[in-house]
Amino acid sequence: MGKLDNKVAIITGGASGIGRKTALLFAEEGANVVITDMDESKGEQVLEEIKAINTKTLFIKHDVSQENDWKSVVSQSTNKFQHVDILFNNAGIYIIKPIPEIDLETWNKLMNINVTGVFLGLKHVLPVMEKNRAGSVINACSTAGLRGYEGHLLYGASKGAVRSMTKNAAAEYASKGIRINSIHPDYITTAMTDYASEVTHRSKREMNTSNPLGRMGDPKEVAKSVLFLASDDSSFSTGAEFIIDGGTTSLL
Ligand SMILES: NC(=O)c1ccc[n+]([C@@H]2O[C@H](COP(=O)([O-])OP(=O)(O)OC[C@H]3O[C@@H](n4cnc5c(N)ncnc54)[C@H](O)[C@@H]3O)[C@@H](O)[C@H]2O)c1
Repeated sequence: MGKLDNKVAIITGGASGIGRKTALLFAEEGANVVITDMDESKGEQVLEEIKAINTKTLFIKHDVSQENDWKSVVSQSTNKFQHVDILFNNAGIYIIKPIPEIDLETWNKLMNINVTGVFLGLKHVLPVMEKNRAGSVINACSTAGLRGYEGHLLYGASKGAVRSMTKNAAAEYASKGIRINSIHPDYITTAMTDYASEVTHRSKREMNTSNPLGRMGDPKEVAKSVLFLASDDSSFSTGAEFIIDGGTTSLL
């Protein structure tokens, strides 16, 4: 018996990195997974990987910043599976830039994906969960939503907003049986840390030694924390910040 038997989970940004690993783990735990992503070809690849574990799955091309796309994701998911029990608001982009170099177009682009995308997910999925008076939402935040880093004003502002939306949504939906928590990873080995290494001219070795555990996290380690928050194992947690950072913020 899996921890998510008969649950339906929507995972945004499920085509790669943390989203992909979470989709695979959820399928292993018995969930019917709806993977959404902008990247259709990678999304179709993950769909095939999941079908090898659990055939009840769906890929939907989705830009999280577009409200009509969210309406379509919700209607396709409920048409196929009738209910939605878990939402992992995971899709996001990462931009590191000194403050004077952040133009308004870049600011709006990142905010539309990282902040508006999460808001739209909450707006369109919470009413579906409310019908069953049950559900778990996990929002991908970051240690950048908890502390400062050089060059992280824009990304950190977006994750600070996600942290705050998590707590406000949790307060509004607790009485409706829905729990909403955020996860706060530090460096995890995905395309995002390749980008960070390139932009900051820091070697992977240097990045590995930036936390007490002395290594970057694996996406599977984040997926396991998301599974905990998605499942009934975390039944008394809502509005909480789940830190997965190798000890980085313990040094603050
Ligand atoms: N990797 C890290 O070190 C790290 C640390 C802290 C937080 N996070 C957060 O975890 C989440 C996942 O990051 P990751 O490391 O797996 O990154 P990733 O780049 O591997 O995956 C992100 C996925 O989101 C998709 N995506 C981008 N824009 C989208 C949009 N508008 N609509 C739908 N999908 C879109 C991409 O196509 C990609 O598949 C992000 O929210 C990120 O900010 C990552």
